[in-house]
Amino acid sequence: MTPPASLSIWVLLDLSSLLRGIKKQVNLANPDRHNAAVILATPQYAKLLEDEAFMKEFVDFMSGSEKVEQFHVLGAVVDHVAPPVPRNNPVQGLSILRGRLDSILPDLWTPAPPKAVEDADKVAALTIDFGNPHLTMPLANTTFLNHRTSTLLASRFDLSQGSPRLSERIEKHWQQITLPLEEQLQSVRDLGLWAPLVPLTHPRVVTESFGNIVRRINLNNESTPASNELEPAVDELHNRKSYLVKQSTMGVWAMIMPPVYSQSGADISSPRDPDPTATFDENHSATDLMSATSSRLQELYGQGGRLYQILSGGGGWGAKKGLLSLDPQRTHFSLSEEEEMQRFIQAMDGGNFVPVGSKIQFFASTETAAKPTNGAFSGVVFGTAGAASASADESSDTGPVVLENIFGALSDEGVFVTSSDAAADTTPGFNNDWRLNVPHSRIFVGKAD
Ligand SMILES: *[C@@H]1O[C@H](CO)[C@@H](O)[C@H](O)[C@H]1NC(C)=O
Ligand SMILES: *[C@@H]1O[C@H](CO)[C@@H](O)[C@H](O)[C@H]1NC(C)=O
Ligand SMILES: *[C@@H]1O[C@H](CO)[C@@H](O)[C@H](O)[C@H]1NC(C)=O
Repeated sequence: MTPPASLSIWVLLDLSSLLRGIKKQVNLANPDRHNAAVILATPQYAKLLEDEAFMKEFVDFMSGSEKVEQFHVLGAVVDHVAPPVPRNNPVQGLSILRGRLDSILPDLWTPAPPKAVEDADKVAALTIDFGNPHLTMPLANTTFLNHRTSTLLASRFDLSQGSPRLSERIEKHWQQITLPLEEQLQSVRDLGLWAPLVPLTHPRVVTESFGNIVRRINLNNESTPASNELEPAVDELHNRKSYLVKQSTMGVWAMIMPPVYSQSGADISSPRDPDPTATFDENHSATDLMSATSSRLQELYGQGGRLYQILSGGGGWGAKKGLLSLDPQRTHFSLSEEEEMQRFIQAMDGGNFVPVGSKIQFFASTETAAKPTNGAFSGVVFGTAGAASASADESSDTGPVVLENIFGALSDEGVFVTSSDAAADTTPGFNNDWRLNVPHSRIFVGKAD
């Protein structure tokens, strides 16, 4: 439908030769008369989005030789652009998507309803429409760069006089980007998911829970406080694999599977579930273990499994007699009253976080930069940056690096996914809204070579 060349990420290392360098590498035609583009820029390049001379040159370049009358640009400042595989460290640069205004940027010029009062201090966000699943990514905090909480600008250029002229510019707090995919995704099952984690325990059955609090789980046929098995596992990971984890940055996530399996018998582990002994022994490579674990987690997401970060609360594990509280935030902006009511009804029908009878397995994030693939990737990728990446910007004098057929960005805060999978209506615990903020995690659509 849309030529693949319309998806590209441009990683730029030298600003001065920016467009010159790109033009040397890319010959951009515009046979489909595309009249709109999205530019995601990292903070280092934020000022380009408001630099009229640059934007005019950019529009001139993007519109190609097929001159269109008007060209629309949505510019957003993001924490990082998605790094080119095989590198896993987020980089500074630009990521660009081109298409037709009415297909990629619906309602760009329709005035948006004002932000909800509760959202007044929140950064702006982009929602990426994959079909049924939608992904929402918070933008970067740009307070110190340009005195805006975050930066999301829509501009319209007039090309009818030859060279582009800026005719309108507005600031937005939200915009949807509809991806020109050849096939719209039907369900969360169709999303690629990469979450580099290692297992800490075997799956157990939840025996007592309330809202986002897990009180007790079944351990050796006895209902025991939820943190009893987790606490020593965390200590053991620090003691035996200190090179994998840093005390200060290690996070723990719980994979919750809705109670859809047969509950007869105490052993509810499947041989395919990640095995925690592989985390602690010396015989398994951590990166292999993370790959295997991540594949299994992706499979479980398709069946309704969701990862929730454990919020340790007031320092230390089990301070509240072994209760564990799961991160309750599942959307970036607050929900409307109608949506709240819908969630409430769902909760009354059996609890929407961790219904009793759910399976729970604990995982830890690590410092190793395991990566989703070793080869080239083409497609769309969004995700969460890792803590180690903040200082990972490499400088180089090689000029701009241009990668075609990849579009995406990473947030420091994580991303939010919403879908309308029908299973949520019939399966307690099957959540259609979730957050993924595991360091170095990714949600993607595309193919690895
Ligand atoms: C943005 O960063 C500033 C400075 O660190 C901070 O005061 C502010 O609360 C942040 N805003 C948001 C929305 O995160
Ligand atoms: C667990 O309890 C059930 C029912 O009380 C019993 O049938 C089963 O043998 C027990 N399993 C273990 C491993 O003790
Ligand atoms: C790990 O490998 C060593 C040597 O190959 C072997 O003796 C040991 O039993 C293995 N441990 C596990 C847990 O597989």
